[in-house]
Amino acid sequence: LAIHVLNGPNLNLLGRREPGIYGSTTLAEIERDCMARAAELGVALTFRQTNHEGELVDFVQEAGEAGAGVLINAAAYTHSSIALRDAISGSKVTAVEIHLSNVHAREDFRHVSLIAPVCAGVVCGFGAYSYRAGLDALAHLLRGRQS
Ligand code: DQA
Repeated sequence: LAIHVLNGPNLNLLGRREPGIYGSTTLAEIERDCMARAAELGVALTFRQTNHEGELVDFVQEAGEAGAGVLINAAAYTHSSIALRDAISGSKVTAVEIHLSNVHAREDFRHVSLIAPVCAGVVCGFGAYSYRAGLDALAHLLRGRQS
């Protein structure tokens, strides 16, 4: 079972970026936690981050070609990127959308996700734990599809 964890713009700044909203955990710490959980789940995990929309599209296509599931925090591109949505639907990847913050409790423009309709489910509002919860949920989903 393979899962690619894909991170969008500004998530490289986690830990010092608006800690009141996103917490003090760094992306490197989140990566370590995901790796540890993946080992327990027997999942081969790839963890990537980019600030560039087209590169995020490339990452989704690569996951599709590798036959991997996608756990994605698309950050601000969640709310704006038709290209990313088309990459998810076009690559036929099983994707789970995640966010650290509860986007529904924030500004109106964060209430809309262009990718949610092409994802299997969404986890948001649990801080760094959203990654772990999303990983468990995606592994569960992919396992169900295998058997
Ligand atoms: C975010 C929420 C987005 O609205 C925002 O643009 C981000 C981070 C989150 O994880 O809470 O960059 O995806």
